Amino acid sequence: MNKKPQSGGKKASKYVAREPSADGFIAYPELEHQTWQRLIERQLEVVSGRACDEYIHGLELLDLPRDRIPQLDDISAVLHRETGWQVARVPALIGFETFFSLLAERKFPVATFIRSPEEFDYLQEPDIFHEIFGHCAMLTNPAFANFTQKYGQLGLKATPKERAYLARLYWFTVEFGLVQTPAGLRIYGGGILSSPKETLYAFSDEPERFPFDALTALRTPYRIDIVQPIYYVLDSLQQLQELTEIDLMSRVQQAMELGLFEPRFPPKDAA
Ligand SMILES: [Fe+2]
Repeated sequence: MNKKPQSGGKKASKYVAREPSADGFIAYPELEHQTWQRLIERQLEVVSGRACDEYIHGLELLDLPRDRIPQLDDISAVLHRETGWQVARVPALIGFETFFSLLAERKFPVATFIRSPEEFDYLQEPDIFHEIFGHCAMLTNPAFANFTQKYGQLGLKATPKERAYLARLYWFTVEFGLVQTPAGLRIYGGGILSSPKETLYAFSDEPERFPFDALTALRTPYRIDIVQPIYYVLDSLQQLQELTEIDLMSRVQQAMELGLFEPRFPPKDAA
């Protein structure tokens, strides 16, 4: 679920983001609130003991409703107070420029639609459950928040080829990152945290887990429609802060010169 082109690829979507009324309130049909409730109740149990403490702390701060889809203003109020971030309402799919611009302004794009019951367990597009439950709790953490902004700033200035490399770094951190903690391995990546299947799988013997290294992550291919064969594990979330303080674009140049690693997965057509 939710292996999505988070970097804002423009593909057709069957979903339409809901618009707010004049007072800014976004109304959702009851069925959609029920979908949220089923998703959040299931996933709160799955992430317990598996998500990192910073994520759990962020969830406590957000105090997400169980029985209804949250309003973006309520999320923004908490994020702004904690790290100066907000969420920004966007259409179901947005382009790279918009995506990077928003992140650079500490605004996290959230498309105001939720998956249909038919796609309850898997959808490729990032819906409001993925964005809020998967990512917003971590955006209360300064290191994660600063790194996400840095990614937007770099992406804005990058060439399309550089963006493709940067996207891998984002993928293996913000989306599918793991972190080593005194209590053991924990998750901070939103692509895992919003997926019950991948939350369990990430701890299993199936995937390979390696210590995080920026150059390695930049060179690792991924597929958005499968559980990940490889995860990279931070020593601590502080490593994300350190990434904002180094010359990441020179790592991107280095990665481009060295090229991509061989994929650890079959090509999409053969899968
Ligand atoms: Fe995401």
